[in-house]
Amino acid sequence: MAKDFSEMEDSNRSSNPSIHEVSDPERRLWLRGGLGLSLGGLLGSAGAIGAIGAIGGLGGCASGSAAGGPGPALGFAPLRPSVADRVLVPEGYTVRVLAPWGEPVGLAGAMPAFKFDGSNTAEEQAAQMGMHHDGIHYYPLDGSRRGLLCLNQEYTDEHLLHPDGQATWTLEKVRKSQAAHGITVIEIEQRPDGWQMVRPSRYARRITATTPFRIGGPAAGHVLMRTNADPAGETVLGTLSNCASGMTPWGTYLSGEENWANYFTAADVPTAHERRWGIRKATWYRWPEFDPRFDTVRNPNEPNRFGWVVEVDPMDPDSVPVKRTALGRAAHEGAWVAVTKDQRAVVYSGEDAVFEYIYKFVSRDAIRPAGKGQTAAQANATLLDHGTLYVARFDADGTGRWLPLVHGQGPLTAANGFADQGEVLIKARQASDLLGATKMDRPEWVTVDPTSGWVYCTLTNNSQRGAPGRPGVDAANPRAQNTMGQIIRWKEAGDFSGLEFVWNHLLLAGDPANERPEARGNIKGDIFAGPDTIAFDQRGVLWIGTDFSATSQGEFARMGHNQLLACNPVSGEVRRFLVGPSRAEITGATWTPDGRTMFINIQHPGSGSPRDGSNPRQFSNWPDFNPTGRPRSATVVVRRLDGGVIGA
Ligand code: FEO
Ligand code: CA
Ligand code: CA
Repeated sequence: MAKDFSEMEDSNRSSNPSIHEVSDPERRLWLRGGLGLSLGGLLGSAGAIGAIGAIGGLGGCASGSAAGGPGPALGFAPLRPSVADRVLVPEGYTVRVLAPWGEPVGLAGAMPAFKFDGSNTAEEQAAQMGMHHDGIHYYPLDGSRRGLLCLNQEYTDEHLLHPDGQATWTLEKVRKSQAAHGITVIEIEQRPDGWQMVRPSRYARRITATTPFRIGGPAAGHVLMRTNADPAGETVLGTLSNCASGMTPWGTYLSGEENWANYFTAADVPTAHERRWGIRKATWYRWPEFDPRFDTVRNPNEPNRFGWVVEVDPMDPDSVPVKRTALGRAAHEGAWVAVTKDQRAVVYSGEDAVFEYIYKFVSRDAIRPAGKGQTAAQANATLLDHGTLYVARFDADGTGRWLPLVHGQGPLTAANGFADQGEVLIKARQASDLLGATKMDRPEWVTVDPTSGWVYCTLTNNSQRGAPGRPGVDAANPRAQNTMGQIIRWKEAGDFSGLEFVWNHLLLAGDPANERPEARGNIKGDIFAGPDTIAFDQRGVLWIGTDFSATSQGEFARMGHNQLLACNPVSGEVRRFLVGPSRAEITGATWTPDGRTMFINIQHPGSGSPRDGSNPRQFSNWPDFNPTGRPRSATVVVRRLDGGVIGA
């Protein structure tokens, strides 16, 4: 989600040391080349590719990036920046809208048509595509011809959701807002006239802010998870702020609960725990006035039940989704899985807030294959409930270390406020503060190079870096007033479960023409800012979706609208592939297994922020161009006119 810099969550006031050393990419690139010890990691990566490839995610085409070859060719003519209110793709490609907000998802017996005046009811919205599409993944039912899309609906814009906008609030409007949040599953197939939604479909599903979730892992039943409505602390209603997505080798979908803190109201003087998590009196929405769950004075533990990675089995519409507390509580952007040599799952995640952290979880047990009468998802139903969580420390010499968040180890003791492992996980930020983890510039998506095993993470921006009273620059976050963002990458020593790694920056984003040296960056090729989505395709191309200034002015003036770029991770070459409509963000990227269809999401056309007070209808009417309608977030389909592999 786009954020005004002035409104970004800024609650990490811990005193972890900063390194105060500028980045030295040359040195770290040398370290990368010298990593003979990482062969084991490569084997682990190959294991992950095999498992993931089996269900249509990352494919097996080698790019040569690990061996220092040329990397994948970028076979399209790059776009120039644009400020048109439309989606642009290179010559020889087509883009079409597949699934915008408000379209019925295909629940049998409940397929209400979208009303352009915003007058659909809450009940109707619960059967329609939610708002503000974000992370997305394709799950094949019939290879590259028919499958499921599972996607996140991150937040709502009340200007668009209701006929009279947000001038007044009622319980019905709150219910509609809640129904437009969450996660959606739709069935799609390729027909002679292109990709279409299959409706009705037995797989169609809406998970909203009121759908029951089971709590899994060490915090299940914890005293800090219990509420009057759920005295056992084992069931939560709903998921919120579902931002980025990952998929597992066992066929499930992982979604991060990111900006959940902004849904809860605190007392005039919040508790220390609430302050550390950014929960204040002010909220983005007025839900607490109508739904007491979101009033922490009446329900102090309810916020502890959000901020988790949630797991959904899109193939089983009757399955109960689960909040995986072993992965730690955070402003989770998302979660991404790698596999160790001995088939344990490693889950990377970051939290998108200024000066927060990057985590990894290593499962205790190995991934189990599907069994007799049991799907792989069912066989691994509790895999992510047992394991060890770590937080990253990036050192100035280009190495790094994973610090365990384990109760009783180091400072994570009762004397320091952690009664047990459940409390360590619920208060993962406070635990990471004590461990001296590195405070990052807003970690967003993570992706693992299927060829080399290097792990990439977008650090989208942090204009607070170096501000008075705030942490200064360090090696991993090397620019003060960082309005542009960077992409960091690391290689685990030995295996994805290793405790040490080496790291460097793929690039620092920016525009060489900017006046401020800190805003110039070092991109080889097309300029951009605000890297957010990042994902490898089957050929080893690194795709980067951006989320920078909605207005494309000032330092961003030469960049145009938000965009999707392709990068050769070996050479570092970047080419602009797609440009979005006005004030939209480009997010989510997933492919059919043959690499010939790409699905991406256009989020919040017309709206830079849910809090900027402007009505998105002033700035965009994409994709319908209906003068009485509303701009709509949508999943779009990108194809080549000759049916070839995207980007090749
Ligand atoms: Fe929801 Fe960090 O973007
Ligand atoms: Ca973002
Ligand atoms: Ca994002």
